[in-house]
Amino acid sequence: MSSQLRNEADATDDPLVWTRDHTPLLQSFGEEFGREQPFDGLTVAVVSHLEKKTGVLIETLHAAGATVLFAPSEPQSTHGDVVRFLDAQEGYEAFAEEGMSDEAFEAAQHALLEREPDVILDDGCELIAKAHDAHPEIARKVIAGAEQTTAGITRLEAMDREGVLAFPVYGVNDTPMKHFFDNVHGTGESALANVMISTNAMVSGATAVVAGYGYVGRGVARKLRGVGANTVVTEVDPRRALQAHTDGHRVMSMPEAAEIGDLFVTATGSRDIIRAEHFEAMQSGAKLANAGHFDVEITLADLEEMAERTWSPKAGITRYELPDGRHLDLLAAGRLVNLTGPYSQGHPAEVIDMTFAMMFMAAYDLVGRHTDLEPGLYNVPDRVDREVAERKLATLGIDIDEETESQREYSEDWRHGDSSF
Ligand code: NAI
Repeated sequence: MSSQLRNEADATDDPLVWTRDHTPLLQSFGEEFGREQPFDGLTVAVVSHLEKKTGVLIETLHAAGATVLFAPSEPQSTHGDVVRFLDAQEGYEAFAEEGMSDEAFEAAQHALLEREPDVILDDGCELIAKAHDAHPEIARKVIAGAEQTTAGITRLEAMDREGVLAFPVYGVNDTPMKHFFDNVHGTGESALANVMISTNAMVSGATAVVAGYGYVGRGVARKLRGVGANTVVTEVDPRRALQAHTDGHRVMSMPEAAEIGDLFVTATGSRDIIRAEHFEAMQSGAKLANAGHFDVEITLADLEEMAERTWSPKAGITRYELPDGRHLDLLAAGRLVNLTGPYSQGHPAEVIDMTFAMMFMAAYDLVGRHTDLEPGLYNVPDRVDREVAERKLATLGIDIDEETESQREYSEDWRHGDSSF
């Protein structure tokens, strides 16, 4: 064996070692809040993709005093080694295992809720919605919640409009420290990495169609172009479409794009973005991936109905053979390609370090002030966002300027010191 390759005997059983090395913010929280113990006596529920970065968040919450209960937000994204490693230790309880059926996934979230968590850190509003819908008496005892995804915020806004929320929830997804980095760069890089690894096909020179030019779509399109793809964007919002055009992508409708795309990546948060009429127009061998919402952006029922034969030519790829001789290749069963493919490791750890630092600080802030707040959905205070940004810069050793007194006065004085008019 080459001396550069690690000997098996040197391997560690701790699945989180590498991720701890790449999450300096969470490590600094573990040290600081390990002394303060802000979650002492509290039970915190974490619902998320149960992989290594989430494992490090769970460890950090525990270091800060919490008993942590955790369940998956997606049945197929759980990493068994992480779950087993944490579950074997005191202060943690897993409601998860790798490869759960949809039924087991649902049952696990209900079982977790029956343990009456004080705080819920959610992904997709999975646990918060279930608590209100099926366990209202338990929801009333929760003191604080935080949500990390775009889709989850949409559900929470609906709950807030109906006035049904039983406790205050921070919308972490909407903070600059989350969506400027996680949605754009995290999803962009990890989706591209997984498309490339799963297919082992050239992206450079391919025509790549990205549906949706929000934060995720922008990142996916930018990274695809970065490796040489000819990018096409589809949109329903005229301003986002113009933005894509101005950023240098070709913009067209999905019926037009369907005819020319080699690779399609959906990132809209909506459903049925690529459906029968589009499959009808596609070139044989077109590859389909979803980086947006659950498994509903690419209409699987249409593919199944149209196909004469369905089989898997390669791990993580489902081939749909159509009666006219064409075939279409679907990645990761139409689920989130960056999180559920056979090679997927999710977002780079450095990006999730910021997202989870925001979730941690949201919980910390709300636990400290929940009695001052009515139940409802709240923006995370800007001071929390700034503080996490400052701490992140410190871990990177980057100094920035401070506004001078005269600059502060200038920005606050709308007369700009001239009262002669
Ligand atoms: P966003 O709201 O910023 O962007 C969505 C865009 O899709 C909007 O510009 C909207 O106009 C467009 N859109 C809606 N319907 C469309 C249609 N029929 N055709 C074309 N475009 C359409 O949301 P963001 O932050 O970009 O998130 C998008 C989705 O990605 C959400 O479901 C979110 O939960 C998910 N997400 C996935 C991640 C992952 O790891 N795969 C990470 C972060 C978010």
